Amino acid sequence: MAGAPDKPRSARPGTRKVHVKSYGCQMNAYDAQRIADTLVAAGFIETAAPDEADLVILNTCNIREKATEKVYSELGRLRVMKQAAAQEDRAMTVAVAGCVAQAEGAEIVRRAPTVDLVVGSQNYHRLPELLEQARHAPVIDTEFPAEDKFDFLAAPSTAAIRARGVCAFLTVQEGCDKFCTFCVVPYTRGAEVSRPIAKIVAEAEQLARAGVREITLIGQNVNAYHGEGPNGQPWTLGRLLERIAEIPGVARLRYTTSHPRDVDDSLIAAHRDLPALMPQLHLPVQSGSDRILAAMNRKHTRAEYMAVIDRLRAARPDLALTSDFIVGFPGESEQDFRDTLALIEDVGFSTAFSFKYSPRPGTPAADRDGQVPEGEKSERLTRLQRLIEAQQKAFNEGMVGRTLPVLFEKPGRHPGQTMGRSPFLQPVHVTSPSARIGDIADVMITEASGNGLFGTLADEAAVNGRPAPALMEVHKA
Ligand code: SAH
Ligand code: SF4
Ligand code: F3S
Repeated sequence: MAGAPDKPRSARPGTRKVHVKSYGCQMNAYDAQRIADTLVAAGFIETAAPDEADLVILNTCNIREKATEKVYSELGRLRVMKQAAAQEDRAMTVAVAGCVAQAEGAEIVRRAPTVDLVVGSQNYHRLPELLEQARHAPVIDTEFPAEDKFDFLAAPSTAAIRARGVCAFLTVQEGCDKFCTFCVVPYTRGAEVSRPIAKIVAEAEQLARAGVREITLIGQNVNAYHGEGPNGQPWTLGRLLERIAEIPGVARLRYTTSHPRDVDDSLIAAHRDLPALMPQLHLPVQSGSDRILAAMNRKHTRAEYMAVIDRLRAARPDLALTSDFIVGFPGESEQDFRDTLALIEDVGFSTAFSFKYSPRPGTPAADRDGQVPEGEKSERLTRLQRLIEAQQKAFNEGMVGRTLPVLFEKPGRHPGQTMGRSPFLQPVHVTSPSARIGDIADVMITEASGNGLFGTLADEAAVNGRPAPALMEVHKA
């Protein structure tokens, strides 16, 4: 496969192939799509095979040490591929984008000289021009630009949107001003910026026209959203959700990741009033100990978090909550950790992500006294995950016998199977020829296993695109 039809590369510029590999959060996944869209507009075609690519872009994540190290091991593999390509007289350009690029800059080329281009998380729109420069010598571009990259990145084609499926991410906000003491994001993504309403609505309309049924609004602190509305005044996320819910074809809305401090009345009202806004919310809390929350600079107490949950549940009683937890933050005692377990017991989560604290260079907590030994972190992580798994199991088993509206997303793992999502984001597998991708249909849940559900179409004849009334039954339950 490697290359033969593509050489010599300069003679057939229209056939240059790009492979983009993305790590980390949804923001990175979205950026990777926009990077691909921009390069396709500049004459590249996308390939899923790095070894046949003329350009490989790693869109990297710096959140924990492991994520960063993964990039360097991938670069080791790319060095070998690049040498193999050179032996076939084919040039392969290697670019590092994203949060490691932003955090480490020129250090990346020093550690991995195979890299031709390092491009920071706000500079992707300059890629075509930077690639031209990188033909001569390695290029590093990690300055935060004055302009908004989204104004310059190409929009996806209808074909690209279709190929990506019926659920789409849409970035509405970027960056973070919160400065939690463990976190690199304020440094790798820069200050908080909200995109204007008009641009978000136009993008959502384009997605809906191409057949997207579910849109997840994303941002590092998505509910700190305060983009400019049509009247020149800032709009809240709640108001934005209300506006997007009006777009024909958009059946489901979600948003992530939110911060407990920024849950305002308009967001709570959206959960109460918008049937399209799914009853599932990721609301990271990190710890259940006030002492640790303060040391993390999370800007809220345990009681304040619980009060936010109470208000949300009053508005939407069936709301399923998920969260992020860090164990072994510097100074975390056994008692602090037990406070976290107690919070988990009190809230009851449908699932959660949990991590061992990873000291990140340049963040305040990295140099603090009281670093928790690795063994202790592992032990706490196991205990916490055991509790979360039990809650997840109980949550999923509670669905058996109920009828849930499922949006079918893609073929399942087994022949004849289709995979969709419940309103609560649980994967649901159905084996039926009537389960069509893009449809929302009522599914009778017959079995819960691992993190997924299995079921049968409640009414084989009633498969269509309407938001199913069964959702209302779930509310009451
Ligand atoms: N903006 C989001 C989270 C962004 S990072 C928020 O405020 O919640 C995603 C998750 O990674 C965090 O919620 C946290 O649980 C985890 N994380 C971030 N930095 C970490 C670190 N240094 N060590 C371990 N986990 C970390
Ligand atoms: Fe990181 Fe805290 Fe900002 Fe989330 S709120 S991105 S954890 S600094
Ligand atoms: Fe990772 Fe950057 Fe996202 S550090 S989690 S890719 S914002």
